[in-house]
Amino acid sequence: MGIKVGIIGCGSIARFRHAPEYKANPHVEEIIFFDRRPERAECLANEFGGRAVKTDEELLNDPSIVAISDCSSNDAHHINTTKALLSGKHVLCEKPLANSVMHAEVILEAERISGKKLMVDHNQRFTKAHQKAKEILDKKELGEVLTFKTSFGHQGPESWGVNKSNSTWFFKKERSHSGVAGDLGIHKIDLIHYLLDDEIEDVHSFHGALDKVDENGLPIEVCDNVVCALKTRKGRLGTASFSWTYYGSEDNSTVIYCQKGILKIYNDPDVPLVVEKKDGSIKKYEFESIQTNNNQTNTGVINAFIDSIIHDVKPLVTGEQAIASLRIVEKILGS
Ligand SMILES: NC(=O)c1ccc[n+]([C@@H]2O[C@H](COP(=O)([O-])OP(=O)(O)OC[C@H]3O[C@@H](n4cnc5c(N)ncnc54)[C@H](O)[C@@H]3O)[C@@H](O)[C@H]2O)c1
Repeated sequence: MGIKVGIIGCGSIARFRHAPEYKANPHVEEIIFFDRRPERAECLANEFGGRAVKTDEELLNDPSIVAISDCSSNDAHHINTTKALLSGKHVLCEKPLANSVMHAEVILEAERISGKKLMVDHNQRFTKAHQKAKEILDKKELGEVLTFKTSFGHQGPESWGVNKSNSTWFFKKERSHSGVAGDLGIHKIDLIHYLLDDEIEDVHSFHGALDKVDENGLPIEVCDNVVCALKTRKGRLGTASFSWTYYGSEDNSTVIYCQKGILKIYNDPDVPLVVEKKDGSIKKYEFESIQTNNNQTNTGVINAFIDSIIHDVKPLVTGEQAIASLRIVEKILGS
């Protein structure tokens, strides 16, 4: 007997990552879809098999459903994920874990009370280049990390989400809360914490709505660009840029400067990982390119979530780690 999973929120991330990856997972027997817009749930059930339900109660009160993916918009995570945990389901929640640290703490409390697993979709950790970089850093092949720079920018979410227009929730303060900082920035904050086995402590940042306009032609309510200087607990210094206004190819790069060389990750469009050593040697690693909005390959996150349930082990991205990244987003925004 396989596992039955529910998906709450049937927009783009459910369609391009969660549903196909559950479908491809050999342990998953059935996917049950719910969206507060029922036609979206029906649409994914038709596309991927499984069935759609009309209320979240039908999902949460069904004892045969073991796990839930919360793919709703940021404002709803603390409601849906909390309810699902307290209904006895394991939950894979999309990032950012919540639209505030306060709401994220509600989720973590539900995790504690329920004893169920909570994993957060910080999928950047799982790419082959990031995994290899982690291995090199953990083995201290390049000595200690001194500084870093990281970027994540693309053309913006109005061409990604299920509502492909400037009225998208991604542009609304009430629903997105943190704009590009919580949308793209949090991925790289989590990545830096993970790769460096460290935590960002001090932040100096600038952010603004420089170019995006809403459906009324007014500047959006959240930031579309962030630049910041960062200092970690272990004293590493770094810079980061997050943008929804890179109107060309996506920038998903991270460069880590160490005592004995440099790690360049997704910094060259043709080579995902380059290791340059102080002695002049250069090693190029050829992996598949990173998932982008136009290139959806298996992220490995769903498989990791299902494995954590089957083998009863701690998920690879925990609620505590996700809240640590959310705290940095709040610092960046000065809230
Ligand atoms: N991990 C990643 O790389 C990644 C990439 C894109 C989006 N995301 C995250 O995934 C989440 C969803 O983003 P998306 O791009 O799919 O957005 P989307 O707008 O395409 O889809 C969101 C869906 O959720 C539904 N929804 C909203 N609130 C709901 C509620 N309370 N109950 C039921 N359904 C509800 C909407 O009707 C919509 O169909 C966001 O938190 C976003 O930050 C993560």
